[in-house]
Amino acid sequence: MSRKSFLGKSIVSIKDLTREDLDIIFEEADKMEQIIKSNKKPLDGKILAALFMEPSTRTRLSFEAAMHHLGGSVITVSDPKSSSAVKGESLSDTIRTVENYCDIIAIRHPLEGSARLAAEFSRVPILNGGSGAEEHPTQALLDLYTLLKELKTVEGKSIAMVGDLKYGRTIHSLAYILSKYNAVKLYFVSPPSLRIKAEIKNDLKEAGIEFHEVESLSEVIPLVDAIYMTRIQKERFPQEAEYEKVKDAYVLTKELLTFAKGPIPVLHPLPRVNEISYDVDDTKHAVYFKQMYNGVLVRMALLNLILGGEVK
Ligand code: CP
Repeated sequence: MSRKSFLGKSIVSIKDLTREDLDIIFEEADKMEQIIKSNKKPLDGKILAALFMEPSTRTRLSFEAAMHHLGGSVITVSDPKSSSAVKGESLSDTIRTVENYCDIIAIRHPLEGSARLAAEFSRVPILNGGSGAEEHPTQALLDLYTLLKELKTVEGKSIAMVGDLKYGRTIHSLAYILSKYNAVKLYFVSPPSLRIKAEIKNDLKEAGIEFHEVESLSEVIPLVDAIYMTRIQKERFPQEAEYEKVKDAYVLTKELLTFAKGPIPVLHPLPRVNEISYDVDDTKHAVYFKQMYNGVLVRMALLNLILGGEVK
């Protein structure tokens, strides 16, 4: 495997990437700060279409910032109500339209399977920026990149994933990406109604990953090397009453973190509602702001690798 193997590649699921692929992406990401500081434009003349059919702040804007840093241009649908999807256009027809205007498409869509379908119809590479409650592979890449920067390695580390493990696409992609590393131990912390899917647990068992399902966050805090918090996602619940029962299940506070092994990193894909108390923000635990910057570097790396940008 080499940089060249990324040319024209779609990233639909984190399962499509090998451990070797991850090393190449992170090595590329390490070079991106230099591009930001320089006047180099490796993707001059290339166009990214950001096709966001669900709300987003970080994913869309970081993809756009990444393309600008690389010297390319961006066209955007940021509100599905402003696209012809509201007139009943199918996703496949939208893709067969947008591919004529760009070199690569970053898509967010409310349906599971949407990014895979888009990749099947598209002549240009597709980057999955979140497909319903299914996957969010570029988020997992930036999450792992952040964990590696903070912990040096994830091998032999214990990581807690907390909150909405059922509908949380960032959780699903993160569990799969971590399963590519040896001796990772996962603690899945959720209310019973939001446990991680059986399919993912089976895949983790097959990969030989040790995991534990627990309800108590405070019991897990002293055991782990990192905590990944997530929002309970109101918009994914079929019944609002079910959301109301669990919405405040976990609130990580500065006081709770005094029981941690040390200054362990706390990550969150954001947005948060109230699952991380604001008093954590000015502690050494708060890595969630660094994640957003790392997201620009990782998305720059993907765009540059897939579109064949030169890095000297
Ligand atoms: N982390 C993430 O996907 O954030 P946005 O929904 O703001 O893009």
